[in-house]
Amino acid sequence: MTSMDLDSLKKAAAVKAVEFVRDGMVIGLGTGSTAKHMVITLGEKVRAGMKLRAVPTSQETAMLAKQSGITLIDTDNRWEIDVAIDGADQVDPGFNLIKGGGGALLKEKIVAASAKQFIVLVDHTKQVPVLGGSFPLPIEVIPFGWGSTAREIEALTKSRVVLRERNGVPFKTEAGNMIVDVHLARIDQPRELEIALNQIPGIVETGLFVNRTDVLIVGTPQGVQIQHAPRT
Ligand code: A5P
Repeated sequence: MTSMDLDSLKKAAAVKAVEFVRDGMVIGLGTGSTAKHMVITLGEKVRAGMKLRAVPTSQETAMLAKQSGITLIDTDNRWEIDVAIDGADQVDPGFNLIKGGGGALLKEKIVAASAKQFIVLVDHTKQVPVLGGSFPLPIEVIPFGWGSTAREIEALTKSRVVLRERNGVPFKTEAGNMIVDVHLARIDQPRELEIALNQIPGIVETGLFVNRTDVLIVGTPQGVQIQHAPRT
């Protein structure tokens, strides 16, 4: 499948997700190439007269939302987000996710956690029997002592931990932190792993989204599939 074909599957999933949006809602806007289609489609709705306000999960998304005519409320300190819609890097059969390929995992998790409904959009290639393997787990860490934090992660996971770089320098998140990518062969117990990682000082947030997805929308060559997951 070419990347153009995959992009049309992402777009089809995004268009379907926007059907969940109702007039007057506050929407959490995800980040990435799939979420981008959702923001553009929402912009079309706004131009057609729909009233929406939104919370962006990155500067990139904020810029696109503004260009699309969507009103942003990113400075509010207490949101009531009706629906958050975002992409993912991997999704397992329990609807647990790896996110953070683009480095926006911290805001993405805050927004997903505070939304009444969290809708996840993927193309079918992101569905995996077990998280891990082909996609490393991103973890946002404080720059102070990051090397020690990485060593602790290595000791816990027995896996290779790589500092993410961009253009030869450490990648900086919007919060001024760093990302390490953890190459885990398989994540059989995502909840337990998330809890254990959160015990390590220096970790700000992990890209594991466990038991957060309410609706999974998958773009496949056979059409768009919608699956509902009860939060347990
Ligand atoms: C951003 O940090 C990520 O969590 C994205 O949501 C994720 O990487 C999916 O991105 P794509 O839709 O571009 O694959």
